[in-house]
Amino acid sequence: MFETKIIEATDDGMAEARDAAVSLLQAGEVVALPTETVYGLAADAFNPEAVAKVFAAKERPTFDPLIVHIATLGDLERVAIVPDDIRETVNKLANEFWPGPLTIILPKTPEVPDLVTGGLPTVGVRQSAHPIFRAINKTLGNPIAAPSANRFGRISPTSASAVMKELGGRIPLIVDAGACNEGIESTIIRIEPREGKKPIFHVHRAGPITKEKLQPFGKIEKVKPGDKLQSPGQLESHYAPLTPFRLIEKPEDFTPEPGKRYGLLSYKGEDGGEFVRSHEWEVVVALSPGNGKQAEAAVRLFYAMREMDEMGLDEIIAEPMSEVGLGVAINDRLRRASTPR
Ligand code: TXA
Ligand code: MG
Repeated sequence: MFETKIIEATDDGMAEARDAAVSLLQAGEVVALPTETVYGLAADAFNPEAVAKVFAAKERPTFDPLIVHIATLGDLERVAIVPDDIRETVNKLANEFWPGPLTIILPKTPEVPDLVTGGLPTVGVRQSAHPIFRAINKTLGNPIAAPSANRFGRISPTSASAVMKELGGRIPLIVDAGACNEGIESTIIRIEPREGKKPIFHVHRAGPITKEKLQPFGKIEKVKPGDKLQSPGQLESHYAPLTPFRLIEKPEDFTPEPGKRYGLLSYKGEDGGEFVRSHEWEVVVALSPGNGKQAEAAVRLFYAMREMDEMGLDEIIAEPMSEVGLGVAINDRLRRASTPR
């Protein structure tokens, strides 16, 4: 057991937070750090004992590989071997989207411990855009392995208090930099080269780098459940609140049971139309009230799911967004959060 300390990485506290995090990482400990997507539980990627603590704190099965974060593009070669036939594409994507929420699956170097990749010959790599994460990554000097800082199968944390609820007592330090500005986890792709044509991008997880943004660089194909190369951790059920949760495609598909208290997780709230009016909801939580902005909805998604989970509802009903832009990633999270039935 730890007494989990929170250090605020404000302007004044920036250096203190960085130094405290780096000394713990150097000592082989784990620390929760903000990234632009969600909070991550960080360990020195080249220290297998430290990485083992990440799995233990999260109660995560060891077949589920971790994403490795590099501080500079120069560090890519330390963790990944970029094949010649996709080198140009990797460079283009890195130029366009790094630092940022795009994870690329590449063959790993021998230096990356097998525990990090769950025994796979590949490694998922990204460069975080969060200034504090980057400062810590750079000062540490080694790549950082960091999954989302939640217990396995639960909602990803987008604030320090959410991390505290998930991992308080299990880790020594949380660096608090306020809310994450993307709100959902990075897009994950694998690149398949093609002779004389644009490569295929197999999308393992939809995220902030949408298919619309990726399309200029490659042909998009979604990795479906059951695909041989599906990401091991992308289980169908994930991001789950403790309260029963259900994504309903159309209002007429929902038949309430008498006496039960239902809450609606809505995109636009009162102005959003048929879902809000279809039932006497106990509560309506809007992800982006009014006109609806997808980016705002993404930022608020996990926060709202946590908030609704604490309302003592019998069930949370979620309405889908249109399958464009960030809507794809948001619907994906809502679908996975749905209680299997
Ligand atoms: O935005 C993010 O990606 C956050 C922040 C902290 O960077 N991290 C994150 O990590 O969401 P995690 O562990 O919660 O999700 C990583 C996903 C898992 O589903 C895992 O299976 C997949 O990435 N993954 C990692 N390495 C892989 C590999 N070599 N091949 C296939 N999938 C991989
Ligand atoms: Mg996760």
